[in-house]
Amino acid sequence: MTLDLRQAHHRAFTSDRPSIQRLVHVPTTVAMTVEGRPERSFTMRLDRRPCEVVDLEPSEIEVFVTPEQADEAATGALSLVGAILAGDVRHTGPVRRYLEVEPIIRGALAEDAGFHGDGEHARGEGAIGAAVTSDLLAIETRGLHKAFGSNPVLRGLDLGIPEGTITVVLGPSGTGKSVLLQHVIGVMQADAGDVLIRGRSLNDMSRSEVLGLRRGIGVMFQDGALFSAMDVYDNVAFPLRQHTDLNEREIREVVEDRLDSVGMLYAISRMPGELSGGMRKRAGLARALVLNPSIILCDEPDSGLDPVRTALLGDVLVEQHAAYGGTMVVVTHNIALAKRIADYMAVLWRGKLLAAGMTEELLTSDEPFIQQFLSGDSQGPLGMDA
Ligand SMILES: Nc1ncnc2c1ncn2[C@@H]1O[C@H](COP(=O)(O)OP(=O)(O)OP(=O)(O)O)[C@@H](O)[C@H]1O
Ligand SMILES: [Mg+2]
Repeated sequence: MTLDLRQAHHRAFTSDRPSIQRLVHVPTTVAMTVEGRPERSFTMRLDRRPCEVVDLEPSEIEVFVTPEQADEAATGALSLVGAILAGDVRHTGPVRRYLEVEPIIRGALAEDAGFHGDGEHARGEGAIGAAVTSDLLAIETRGLHKAFGSNPVLRGLDLGIPEGTITVVLGPSGTGKSVLLQHVIGVMQADAGDVLIRGRSLNDMSRSEVLGLRRGIGVMFQDGALFSAMDVYDNVAFPLRQHTDLNEREIREVVEDRLDSVGMLYAISRMPGELSGGMRKRAGLARALVLNPSIILCDEPDSGLDPVRTALLGDVLVEQHAAYGGTMVVVTHNIALAKRIADYMAVLWRGKLLAAGMTEELLTSDEPFIQQFLSGDSQGPLGMDA
């Protein structure tokens, strides 16, 4: 079966689905060249509405795929973001831009090709590890150290979160995962080392720049962190009232849309005390996403949920990422959730990076310490007091 990538894109971009319309916020052109098949190659102009698909012409970003990769991309079997990061797909230009919008393109393609993931989503193949260069990272920590009194928590953490992916940061309780997130949003200061967001050092930013940066990062807190005196509607509307000039009608439109996308529209007038744990998390997610952040941090979205609700929430995260793109960082010690949603995984251990790579790569690693960690085995090279 040969799927026409060009037609799939064209259909996707002339539809009026809101997730696809969001691409117009990216003023760039992307050329997809199917090697040896000029009739399937095309250029996407993402700066207009509806996004345009035209004949191949000079573009800011160029991505070169084989006919097989094009088919796999159109059915959702191949994640272009993974393939680019793994070096399997050639590219030129500021590919970070592409990685930001790729999940949206992927979602559109998969939908148009009649592919409906059942919670599983496409993953790239191959090792990337050290291959991910800094300019493909949305978030990077370099030699991050943080101690509380005599308790060293981060001990020289070097971590890179690739742009455009769902990255799951795994680590046992108390390793410093939440502390790491606090550093990323600039509410905690490192003792030594640095955090870079899209190549910019937090150390070099003024306070107002850090505040501006924080506005572009959506955070889903462990317990949803809803304001208990406000109903769901007002909770989700809160960031819009704080940071935008939207009028009440526009706010309602955005809030209803977001709540609908996480399956919570029916609970819009409930108070947080009237919600279950899973519902509270969904409302927290809707609030984290309401300003369309390009970076989303979720701290233990699964804590307190049973396995079925954890799996359902995982599917919501994958759906949100497919629809809106961006870089999603999910912190958890739930390996089942990680396997379900991660494009990329990073394992923290005692304040350092133990391992990182594309999900497939880590899951098939024969390193004893990775195997021990991922299988939750008490026997092996990792000890309580290493
Ligand atoms: N503000 C703080 N003051 C003092 N110690 C702190 C502070 N925040 C975190 N810690 C300590 O840092 C360590 C790491 O905490 P952190 O919350 O980051 O762990 P975690 O990896 O998120 O664990 P969990 O999976 O249980 O959430 C813990 O020993 C904790 O007591
Ligand atoms: Mg934590």
